[in-house]
Amino acid sequence: MLYGIGLLLVPFFFLAGTAFAQPLEELKKQLDETREIIKKQQEIIESQKAKIELLEKAIKEKVPPEVAERETLLKESIERGKNIYSSKGCLECHGEEGQGAKGPVLKGVILKYDEEFLVLSITNPTVHHGPKALMPAFAGLQNDEVGDVLNFLTTFTPGRENLERIERGKRLWNKLGCLQCHGLRGEGGVTGPAIIGITKKYKYDWIRLCITRPEVHHGKKTEMPAFSEVPFMDVEAVIDFMNTF
Ligand code: HEC
Ligand code: HEC
Repeated sequence: MLYGIGLLLVPFFFLAGTAFAQPLEELKKQLDETREIIKKQQEIIESQKAKIELLEKAIKEKVPPEVAERETLLKESIERGKNIYSSKGCLECHGEEGQGAKGPVLKGVILKYDEEFLVLSITNPTVHHGPKALMPAFAGLQNDEVGDVLNFLTTFTPGRENLERIERGKRLWNKLGCLQCHGLRGEGGVTGPAIIGITKKYKYDWIRLCITRPEVHHGKKTEMPAFSEVPFMDVEAVIDFMNTF
C-alpha cells in the first residue's frame, strides 16, 4: 500500500518541480529586466540633474550653458592640477602660490609664455633651459595631466589676469567685432590700428573709456564705435584678453 502511494507521489513532485521551474526562470528574467530599466532611468536622472545644475549656473551667471559647462570642467581640471602640483613636488621648488623657492616664480608665467613653451618646460625642460636645467623632466605626465597643471598655474596669476576671464574676453573680442578692425590679437586691420601692448602703455581706466566712450579720447569723428551698452564685466574681460597681447 505504502509502496503504491510512493509511486503516486513521485510523478506529482516531479511535475510540481518542473511546473515551477519555468516561471522561476521567467521571474528572474523579469527581475533582471526591471533592474536594468531602473538603472537606465537612474542614469537619465543623474544626467538631467547635471543639466539642471549647468542651466542654473548659466542663468545665475548670465552666461551661455556651453560657457558654464566649460567653467565647471575647468574648475575640476584645476583641482586635479593642484593635486599633481603638490604630489609631484612642484610645490617644493616653486612655492605653494608660485612665489618661487628653489625654482623660479611661476606667477604670471601663463601670460609670459605660450602653451607649447610651458608644456615643454614641464615635460622636457632641457629644450628651453639647456642641458643644465635644474628643473626635473616630468616626461611621465599624460597630456591631460599637463593640461591640468597648466590650468592650475593660471590660478597664480591673480585678479584681472585669470584665465577663465581671458577666455571669455577672447570670445567677446570676436563677438563684439573688435577682431574685424583690430585683428585676431590686436595686430591691427584695415580700419583699426594695431593695439598690441596697449594695456601696458595706458592706465586701465583710459582703456575702458576707449572702449565704452571713445569720443572722449579720440574726438567725435573717431571711427572706433562706442561700446557703451556692453556690461562692465564684459569690458573687463575684453581688457583681460587684451592684456595677453
Ligand atoms: C627640483 C626643483 C624643481 C621641481 C621639483 C620642479 N621645478 Fe619647475 N623649475 C625649476 C627650475 C630651477 C626652473 C628654471 C629652469 C631651470 O633651470 O631648469 C624651473 C622652471 C619651470 C617652468 C618654466 C618657468 C620659466 O620662467 O622658465 C615651469 C612652467 C615649471 N618649472 C613648472 C613646474 C611644474 C609644473 C613642476 C611639477 C610638475 C615643477 N616645475 C617642478 C625647478 C623645479
Ligand atoms: C569699426 C572698426 C572698429 C571696431 C569694431 C573696434 N574698433 Fe577699436 N578702434 C578703431 C579705430 C579706427 C581706432 C582709432 C581711434 C582713433 O584714432 O580715432 C580704435 C581705437 C581703439 C583703441 C585705442 C587705441 C589707441 O591707441 O588709442 C582701443 C583700446 C580699441 N580701439 C579697442 C577696441 C575694442 C576692445 C573693440 C571691441 C569691443 C574695438 N576696439 C572695436 C576701430 C574699431
